[in-house]
Amino acid sequence: MSRLVVVSNRVSIPTGDAKAGGLAVALNDLMERQGGLWFGWSGHTSTGSATTTPALVQHGAVDYATVDLTPEELELYYNNFSNGTLWPLMHSLPEQMNFDRRSLQGYRAVNMRLADVLVPLLRSTDTIWVHDYHLLAMAASLRARNVTCPIGFFLHTPFPSPDMLSSVPEASQFIRDLLSADLLGFQTANDAENFAASAQRIAGAARLAGGGLQLGNRQIRVGAFPVEIDPHDFAEMAEQAHGNAETARLRRSLDGQSLILGVDRMDPTKGLRHRLAGYRRLLETRNQWSRQTTFLQIAAASRQDVDAYQTLRDDLEGSAGAINATLGEADWTPIRLISRGVGRDAIAGFMREARIGLVTPLRDGMNLVAKEYVAAQDPDDPGVLVLSKFAGAARQLGAAILVNPVDPDEIADALDLALRMSRPERQDRWKACWEAIKDASALGWGRSFVSALSRAGTEVPRPARP
Ligand code: ADP
Ligand code: F6P
Repeated sequence: MSRLVVVSNRVSIPTGDAKAGGLAVALNDLMERQGGLWFGWSGHTSTGSATTTPALVQHGAVDYATVDLTPEELELYYNNFSNGTLWPLMHSLPEQMNFDRRSLQGYRAVNMRLADVLVPLLRSTDTIWVHDYHLLAMAASLRARNVTCPIGFFLHTPFPSPDMLSSVPEASQFIRDLLSADLLGFQTANDAENFAASAQRIAGAARLAGGGLQLGNRQIRVGAFPVEIDPHDFAEMAEQAHGNAETARLRRSLDGQSLILGVDRMDPTKGLRHRLAGYRRLLETRNQWSRQTTFLQIAAASRQDVDAYQTLRDDLEGSAGAINATLGEADWTPIRLISRGVGRDAIAGFMREARIGLVTPLRDGMNLVAKEYVAAQDPDDPGVLVLSKFAGAARQLGAAILVNPVDPDEIADALDLALRMSRPERQDRWKACWEAIKDASALGWGRSFVSALSRAGTEVPRPARP
């Protein structure tokens, strides 16, 4: 059997300080069960010059190979270009986007350096799976180094429309680079379609029936592979955690109030400013929910060296403080904001306790939190998911209350509806959401991509000219 080589910016080593984020959650299980090589950034910066050999660690059937970045590489590749340019671009938020040519060059240089370090570790029979917007140039860099193994690429974020994409100088080069892979996977059919339209327009790729592309002699498969969670494991964890001391302390502190819960990385795409405004609007327009609700927002600080993330943190702390100061009472605090990561057990227990899961990203590739909230519920007395219609998860979880995340009135209306919702309606909505996720798994997602990759990469004859 071919060895699986995963290449991603973050490498989730079991003993390391795991970061909140969808990629690690989605890939851990696949790697642990299937084994292989996981290669990427160590999460650390080197003090000296760029190293050419990776640090190697083995756990179970997985070899982890990681590379430190120099402080300059970190700044140009990760902070500036990946998170300051590509992240807002992929989420179609151009007003949040910064661009400078030096960062673009630094980004390309890191993709090439990582390819240089990876190539000596590869075997000719490997199957390579590259992940996410940090590594858009990786497949092309590997091909330029004569790597002939099958290469797949999966984007965890949304993919923008061709017009939006063209707002970044040289974005067309990334399309051409990505077309060096044999399989390109996206979260939704809409993202796959946006990519295919860009490839046709920018690189002159021909569209094939079934969603593939043809470029010269090569056929590139393009498809939607929505990331999944392990719903039964998460449900079990939530049930157990609901009885533990941490959740019991939270429950006692609520003293009968309904818990509204948000769980996110503190990220400008997660709609947190608008979310707080929506809760504020609820309290201002429906006084009956004062003292009857508590909004707990767990927002793990993320990417703190990027300006937009620091500003967001300051803004949220300011808004939460202002809401508490103006709408709170001597014996009631409307918002609790925690800017740290919280353990998965605790999150699962809190989700089961929450009457409302409030998940309102401005845009999101998938959003695993929405699926976790559904899995965490007590089927007999479930809470209600209020979900942004611009999260990939909304395609599967249409029975949630879907909202426009930039409209505080719509969020307030949805919260009011959810707080008043009858138990039979909550059960019906929850059941429909559970049906949508219950038969899938993170492992199944990973295996379906790898199996599609094993069928991709076939050479096809150039279509005859008429
Ligand atoms: P993203 O990949 O953009 O961070 P997702 O919702 O797809 O967003 O995945 C986030 C994952 O990280 C989920 O499994 C979620 O439970 C976890 N997570 C998110 N925020 C926190 C937090 N504040 N503390 C702990 N875990 C978190
Ligand atoms: O897809 C979103 C993503 O970039 C993942 O790659 C990662 O798991 C998560 O966000 C966390 O971000 P970071 O790796 O920048 O801390």
